[in-house]
Order: sequence, then structure tokens, then C-alpha cells
Amino acid sequence: MTNIAHSVDQAFYFITWVSVALLAIVTFFMVYFAIKYRKDKHPKAEEIEGHLWLEILWTVLPTILVMFMFYMGYTGFVLMRNVPDDAMEVKVTAQMWSWQFQYDSGKVSDILVLPIDEPIKLSLGAKDVLHSLFIPAFRVKEDAVPGVPTYLWFIAEELGEYDLFCAEYCGLGHSGMITKVNILSKAEFDKWNTVKTAAPDALGLLKAKGCLGCHSLDGTRKVGPALNDIADKPGMLADGSAYKADKAYIKRAILKPKAEVVKDYPPIMPTIPLTDEELEIISAFLAGEEKPVAPSGKEVLKTKGCLGCHSLDGTRKIGPPLNGIFGRKGTLADSTAYEADRAYIKRAILEPKAEVVKDYPPIMPTIPLSKAELSGVLDYLKETK
Ligand code: CUA
Repeated sequence: MTNIAHSVDQAFYFITWVSVALLAIVTFFMVYFAIKYRKDKHPKAEEIEGHLWLEILWTVLPTILVMFMFYMGYTGFVLMRNVPDDAMEVKVTAQMWSWQFQYDSGKVSDILVLPIDEPIKLSLGAKDVLHSLFIPAFRVKEDAVPGVPTYLWFIAEELGEYDLFCAEYCGLGHSGMITKVNILSKAEFDKWNTVKTAAPDALGLLKAKGCLGCHSLDGTRKVGPALNDIADKPGMLADGSAYKADKAYIKRAILKPKAEVVKDYPPIMPTIPLTDEELEIISAFLAGEEKPVAPSGKEVLKTKGCLGCHSLDGTRKIGPPLNGIFGRKGTLADSTAYEADRAYIKRAILEPKAEVVKDYPPIMPTIPLSKAELSGVLDYLKETK
């Protein structure tokens, strides 16, 4: 039950019982008059005069009834649209074909976990097409529309697990857009709603420390040299001597940015304060060392929505099941053979429409993944049988 459910149910049951009563009354009189005025008793049709008071009665009474129904629906609607200021916000993203719930704590989840007895605001967004978030037990439902922010709110009044699903046909995997709402006590919720602080990843550090203001990661020349694919690349410094961008050089270039400046770039890089750990992570990343600070691959599969279309238990969904995928052999849509080694799986994630497995639709979107997330996923898939 939610606070919203009370008003919805009230209006629903009122209308239902009024309808049942009217049905009974009308049916009763219909049968009664059919018997009373049957042909053998009244062989000749007679003119019946109108009855003023009866007519006033059956005009005024239904009007009052209908206005009262409108009033109940209207007050319920006003309640649904007015979110209390202290409501806890959860960002909901719908995509083909999964739900993602994002909390202020930074927590991201594929099931909706919420505390009991607190106003909750769900801010809805959609990545691709129209979806609709429906929690039948809570009597709430709202469309998620690309580009149009929508919302709903409620206070859950009972602990437990409830269904949440998509109520707007959104393509092949529509029926798979189903997940759970889990209502916990405040204490349990707080325990759940904490983010294990993962080791910082290189990309995050480059962003946070402002490096990307002057260095691109896509080869574009900015104020400083681009940082992608520099590992072990040779080049020339401003003083005409040669250098090789190995890890040692990269570290020196970060610690003493004005000492060994690359030719044709201005010697203007400031010294960025970094801890030893941060320096190690960034230079290892730039030097191309495979040292993924991998988030759990399973977590990535969940939060990126992969499991909306791929099972981990061998069930055929929209896409092929992912368990035991390493080493799997089969045929692609173009009838060529493939073997799912690490390279193939990586390609299948990065360019999902290029090498589609036979008998599956070529509809997988490109999911943005960091390098660390990608290798986390690959490592995880290797282990799942
Ligand atoms: Cu999303 Cu139906």
C-alpha cells in the first residue's frame, strides 16, 4: 500500500459499487416491468404521460453521483502531482529493454530499493523510445519519454517486494522490462544505499584533475599533446633530443611538466598535485599497462542494462545468453563461422551490429563503457559457465 493507493482505491471501489448497485436496480425493474406489463395482461399499448418529479430525480441524482466521482478522482490526481519538498529523489532511466535506478549517493541499481514511510520521487527519463513505469501494487504509472522529464511520487507503507514493469509497448524486448521494487526499513535502506568506494580509475582522475582541458583522448591536438595511444611512442622534445613515452617518461612529464616538453608545444603545463597512487594509476593507464581497476563485471552487466536482453542462465532472450560464451562456436548472420574468444566478444560489444550471431536480430545498441568496465565484463564472462 502507498498513500497514492488509498485515494486511487477509494475512487475505484466507489465507482465499482455504484455501478454494481445501478446494475442491480436497473435489472430488477427491467425484469419486474417485463412481467408486470406482459402482453396477455396488457394486450393494447397505452400512452404513458411523463412524470415531472421522477424526471428531476433521475437527472439530479446521477449528476450528484458523477460530480462526486469527479471530485474523488480530482483530489487523488492533485495528490499525485504534488510532490512534498522533502521527497527523496531517484533518477530512473528506461532503455530498450531495462530499467536503471540512480541514487544521490551515487549508487546505481537495476532493482528499485526504497525506504518505507518516506516520500519518494521518481524522476523518469528514457534513452531511446517511449516506455512507461508501472508499479501496480502502488497504483502508480507514468510514461518515460525521451527528452521530456516526467515524475511520480509515493510513500510506501508496507515492507516487501513488488513488481515494476514497462507498460508501453517498446519493441521486441518489452515484456522483459520487468524488475522489482524492494521496500526496506530506513536502517536497512541506508546500509544498502552506500557506494563501496572503488579505487579511482585513470579516466576519472584525468577528468577530475583537469588534464583533459589541454589533452584530448581522441587524437585531437589541443594545448598539449593528445594522450591516447602514446604508450612507448617515440618523439622529439623541444631541445631536439629524442624521447620515448614509456612509463618513466610519462611520470617525469607529469611531475616536472616543464623539463621535457614535446616539440611544438608550449611549456606551460602546471604541476598537478597528485598522490603517489594517483600518479601510478594515471601513468600506468597512459603507458598502456593492462591494469584494469575493474568494477565487477556482473555489476556492469546489470547497471548498463545488458541483462535486459541477455540471460546468464542459458535462457534465450532477445540476444544470446552470456554464460559460457567464452569459446562458444557458431554461425554469424552472414553464414560465416565465429568463435567467441576475448577479441570477438570485445568487438561484439564495441560494434554490436557488425558480427551478429545467426537467428538473432541486429538491434543491440552501442553501450558506452570505460576501458575498465569493458575488461571487467570480459573477465566476468570468462568465468561464467
Ligand atoms: Cu519499455 Cu515497454
